[in-house]
Order: sequence, then C-alpha cells, then structure tokens
Amino acid sequence: MSSSNSINEALCLADYERLAKNVLPHAIYEYVYGGGADEISLRENRASLDKIKIFPRVLKDVTRGSTATTIFGEQWRTPIMLAPVAFQRMAHEEGEIATARAASALDVGMMVSTLSSQPLEEISSYLTTPKWFQLYWQLDRNFNLDLVKRAELAGFTALTVTVDSAIHGIRNRAQRAKFQLPDHVSAVNLIHRPPLPTKEFMPDESIVFQGMMSEAPTWEDIEWLIAQTSLPVVIKGILHPDDALKAQKIGAKGVVVSNHGGRTLDCVPSPIEVLPRIRQKVGKDFVVLMDGSIQRGTDVFKAIALGANAVLLGRAQFYALAVAGAPGVAHMLRILREEFEVAMALSGTEKLDDINPELLY
Ligand SMILES: Cc1cc2nc3c(=O)[nH]c(=O)nc-3n(C[C@H](O)[C@H](O)[C@H](O)COP(=O)(O)O)c2cc1C
Repeated sequence: MSSSNSINEALCLADYERLAKNVLPHAIYEYVYGGGADEISLRENRASLDKIKIFPRVLKDVTRGSTATTIFGEQWRTPIMLAPVAFQRMAHEEGEIATARAASALDVGMMVSTLSSQPLEEISSYLTTPKWFQLYWQLDRNFNLDLVKRAELAGFTALTVTVDSAIHGIRNRAQRAKFQLPDHVSAVNLIHRPPLPTKEFMPDESIVFQGMMSEAPTWEDIEWLIAQTSLPVVIKGILHPDDALKAQKIGAKGVVVSNHGGRTLDCVPSPIEVLPRIRQKVGKDFVVLMDGSIQRGTDVFKAIALGANAVLLGRAQFYALAVAGAPGVAHMLRILREEFEVAMALSGTEKLDDINPELLY
C-alpha cells in the first residue's frame, strides 16, 4: 500500500497505531507498543484519561480562538510537542529527519533523544520549531557536558534530562517478541563515549544496585548539570509532587510529568492523575509538561485543564512515521491539532487560559 493510501485510511491517531502494526516487523511493534511488566501503568494511562469528562459551555463567541502559548520565551502554535523517542530509523529509513521535517511543517516542537539514530546536529538543521535536546545521563560527567555543548551549538533551546529510566523496566512483551535493535540502527550520538569500566561482582553484590544503578544520576548530578548550561533544564519522568518541588528548588525550569509511557516501573500512577497535585505544588508559573497516552484533542484539553502547559506525544509519532514517513507524521499532527481546536471551540474556550478544571465534569 502506498503511503498516500495509508494516510487516507487514518482518521485518528489510533488508526495510525493499527496501520503501523501491519507494516512494522512484529518484534519492533511489540517493543514500541509495550509497557513494563504487566502493563498496568500502560493501561491506566489510557483509562484515567478516558474517565475524565469535559463539561462544555455553549454559545460563547470563539471566533478569536487560538491555541498559541509561550514557553521559555518561544512561541508555540499549539501546546503539543513530540516526545523524545529513540531509534526512529527502526520505523522508517529517514528516521528522525523525517519527523523533524514534519514537525517543522506543522509548527510543532520536537525533543530529540540522546538515543536518536541520526546525529543531533543533522536533526536540528531540519527543525524550525522549538527544539529541545533530551539527555540520558552518561556515567562520565564530561561526556554529558560534551553532549550538552553539542546541543547548545546546534541551536537547541532547552535541555530535558530523563530521570525515570536509569534501568529499563521489566519489558516482558519485548522479550517475548525477541526484540533486538536492527543492525542498521545505532546510538550515533554516543560513538565517542568512553568505554564503561568492567566490574567484577562480589557474591553479595547486586547487578542492579551495585551494577546498573551505579551509573544512574542523583540530584547532585542534576544540580551540577544545571550549573554547566545556560539552557533551561527540564526534568522528565517526575510523578511525585515532592520531586517536582525539589526539581524547582535546585533550579530546574520545568518538569515533564511522565511514567515513560508505562514503560519503566509498572504499577505507578498515571501522569494525568498526579498532574493537579504537581501543579499545585510548583505554582502557576513553573513549566509543567505531561505525557502518556495522549491520542485525542480531548486528551490535550484535559491535560491543559488539569494544569499542563503542554503535552508530549510518544508512540504516535513512531507509528505515523512507520506508516507514511514525514507526510504521515505531519498528517498525524494535523489531526491532533484540529481535534484540539474542536475540543476548545465546542467547550466555549478561545485561549489556553480559558481551559480550567471548571470545564471538567
Ligand atoms: C519506542 C519508544 C522510545 C522512547 N525513547 C525515549 C527516549 O529516548 N528518551 C526519553 O526520555 N523517553 C523515551 N520514550 C518515552 C517517551 O518520551 C514518552 O515519555 C512516552 O512515550 C509517552 O507516552 P505515549 O507513548 O503513550 O505517548 C520512548 C518511548 C517509546 C515508546
């Protein structure tokens, strides 16, 4: 099927997921779709959005309506950004560059992953919209600094540090499907990373605590990082309101309320559930983004009503990229943007500040 046929078949974001299942190799689809362990958090992310109802107001004049917002001094046409999603050449040979072209065409920002399968500089050169670099902390402090300096030089305007996945979750679905990174896909931004030291484990030592977690960042590392860069730092993977407050106290400029799309620790609350408590804790001026199962314009509306400045889209971009490359991602973004405008118009709101909890039932 040609990509234009596929685009015609997709009327909503869930259609892209269905179509992607037909075009992606089974193991890759399972890896992307899946969550951690029993996928309780993955299901909850969707279920808790579904439970919330919009309580619309009618007969309001919305003819001056706009979804625009400003974050860190940059204009956003709509409060939607592409989440960092690693290794996009698994979805399409043009990988992150196709995604970046689509984001620019639709005036949507993009967070580029440390684990992108194309160099961060090249991806940046295709982005004309807000572009943030997402850092996965690396053991060698100076290597983190190299990555941050590269991102600054490449014109990224904010730095997101992901803190919820120092270790992969228990990914049984991906394991069952025997997922492996295809040979043609790799972490090209990390080719100059110093080799990790080899470690001998004593019989009473754990491969988790004394092994993998010895490479994980702590609050001190993040504080150090914030002091090294002039970019606003946003911490991604926050669920506890006290951690949001701590992030604010050490000088972060924002947080992403996220459980990594239900892919890391299972049995955690869904981001939409904890969002109001986090907004309350950090006050109205702190940047709070949110992700997890955003699939409809009404989902964007609910997140804004509960305190988010904007939402991120994870899997949806990967599915649309797999189905139809850059035109697929652009089409997917257009669908979501228009659905959000419809949700605003039919609930009597004409700017983001009008969307508040009183418009939820
Ligand atoms: C295939 C895949 C790869 C991901 N790679 C990254 C990554 O490199 N960095 C990161 O911070 N989050 C990563 N995430 C998490 C997303 O940024 C985001 O938090 C999550 O996908 C949001 O949920 P959604 O997929 O339901 O929209 C990844 C998610 C998926 C599905």
